[in-house]
Amino acid sequence: MANAAKMNSGTIDPIAFRNACGGFATGVTIVTTKLADDEHGMTANAFMSISLTPPLIAISIAKTAKMLEYISRSGRYAVSILASGTEATAMHFAGRPDDSVTDPLRQFDDLPVARLACAVFTADVEQTVDAGDHVIFIGRVRCMEAAAEEQPLVFHRGRFGKLCEHRPNLILNTDFPFEGGHW
Ligand SMILES: Cc1cc2nc3c(=O)[nH]c(=O)nc-3n(C[C@H](O)[C@H](O)[C@H](O)COP(=O)(O)O)c2cc1C
Repeated sequence: MANAAKMNSGTIDPIAFRNACGGFATGVTIVTTKLADDEHGMTANAFMSISLTPPLIAISIAKTAKMLEYISRSGRYAVSILASGTEATAMHFAGRPDDSVTDPLRQFDDLPVARLACAVFTADVEQTVDAGDHVIFIGRVRCMEAAAEEQPLVFHRGRFGKLCEHRPNLILNTDFPFEGGHW
């Protein structure tokens, strides 16, 4: 790796660590839950699928986020994989309320989810893992809905982006969506 600075575990600076992890391009999700009628949403890119059978997903929530208490108390959450063009919604749920974002959520399986999404999942918390300054919530998926035609919002090195045109000779998985097997 050209121009790469090496650090070992004793000297890893949190900001340098965050910047290095920012090289991993992700999608963007809105995590939502509710306590009685009190709905709460938060932008998160620390989302992953964990298991196909049973269907498990995970999210990582900062201990400083209000969402931590919401999910701890409700025991369930929804994840909406945001569609391309929803940057304002992503920032709205990241602590930057935006008046231009009107009515971004709808109800699905008794939880709020984003209207403009590639896929939405609702899940019951199955395992809670204390992980440094975050808590990981592994959830068993209860319901899902996917819009295969939607393109995703992308996040990389602190910036939003979108996918560029596929290059036909680089497509590995000509049989997607898969009928069986793994990724
Ligand atoms: C693109 C993006 C991704 C984020 N990913 C996460 C994440 O995975 N986990 C997390 O705890 N915060 C994440 N955040 C920060 C939270 O969205 C932000 O701190 C939010 O205001 C917390 O909301 P709350 O305290 O009202 O629950 C992310 C922010 C952005 C813009």
